[in-house]
Amino acid sequence: MAKTAFIGLGVMGFPMAGHLRAKGHEVTVFNRTAPRAAAWVEKHGGKAARTPAEAARGADFVFICVGNDADVRAVSDGNDGALAGMTKGAILVDHTTASAEVAREIGDKAKARGIGFLDAPVSGGQAGAENGKLTVMVGGEESVFDRAKPVIDSYARACVLMGANGSGQLAKMVNQICIAGVLQGLAEGMNFAAKAGLDGARLIETISKGAAQSWQMENRALTMLAGKFDFGFAVDWMRKDLSICLAEAQRNKARLPLTALVDQFYVQVQARGGSRWDTSSLMHLLAND
Ligand SMILES: NC(=O)c1ccc[n+]([C@@H]2O[C@H](COP(=O)([O-])OP(=O)(O)OC[C@H]3O[C@@H](n4cnc5c(N)ncnc54)[C@H](OP(=O)(O)O)[C@@H]3O)[C@@H](O)[C@H]2O)c1
Repeated sequence: MAKTAFIGLGVMGFPMAGHLRAKGHEVTVFNRTAPRAAAWVEKHGGKAARTPAEAARGADFVFICVGNDADVRAVSDGNDGALAGMTKGAILVDHTTASAEVAREIGDKAKARGIGFLDAPVSGGQAGAENGKLTVMVGGEESVFDRAKPVIDSYARACVLMGANGSGQLAKMVNQICIAGVLQGLAEGMNFAAKAGLDGARLIETISKGAAQSWQMENRALTMLAGKFDFGFAVDWMRKDLSICLAEAQRNKARLPLTALVDQFYVQVQARGGSRWDTSSLMHLLAND
């Protein structure tokens, strides 16, 4: 069993760290807002630390799951950051959805200290984190990946090495680009169905068995038709992710016409007070013109 630390006990990190404990790993947690760390320890046992460095001290594996690039830097760099507490041979795994740039930057800093680093963003949402069935897209060295994978498997259904540092984040960008397009298509289809007076349940039951099938259709089409958006993956998070995709596309010259448009639709959703609504709320714009 490994000695681990988990930094960032949000919607995703809290249950992910819980799975590490459930598999018998030793876990020390850090959360910026301390009562959340105390609540985790009360539920799962283990220990809470006052800084990321303190949590990371002596750990074989240190996991991070915070918000964005700036947050990753805040918990890994500096005297109180995770890297300062880690020893040679240990491995830092970042599950935050962040840029490929920050992944390469932290990877270089870790390597200079003899520490392994993996960028390892996840897909599967809150339910995937709670059920321990996340998909993990990883960037880093193969030898580091091989050591970390059995521990990451505590909360993963799939954990795959994509390439060097940054590749995990690039794979997650592809994931988000695909979701954005699918969601707009689904919203237009569902709005059309409503205007056409079709029976939604019968429609989805039928076309989800054909070529139009998608995770979004199976899990979101009926809630879209019902105008329910008060759950799921928040629009603010999606805009953060799409801004990472659009910035990367400036560098690699990939054209993202639909992604850029959908991002602008999300600006309209935010203006309607939907910052915390699920990403399927693109439907709201069509249904409430
Ligand atoms: N939620 C999803 O469905 C989902 C799905 C896939 C990927 N993700 C990605 O996973 C990451 C975490 O998402 P989440 O839903 O767990 O977010 P969340 O519930 O908002 O939690 C964010 C966590 O990061 C901590 N944090 C943020 N900024 C920090 C800083 N500067 N210093 C120290 N700690 C900081 C927060 O601490 P406090 O408690 O002090 O605020 C909290 O523990 C994000 O990158 C998100 O895009 C989320």
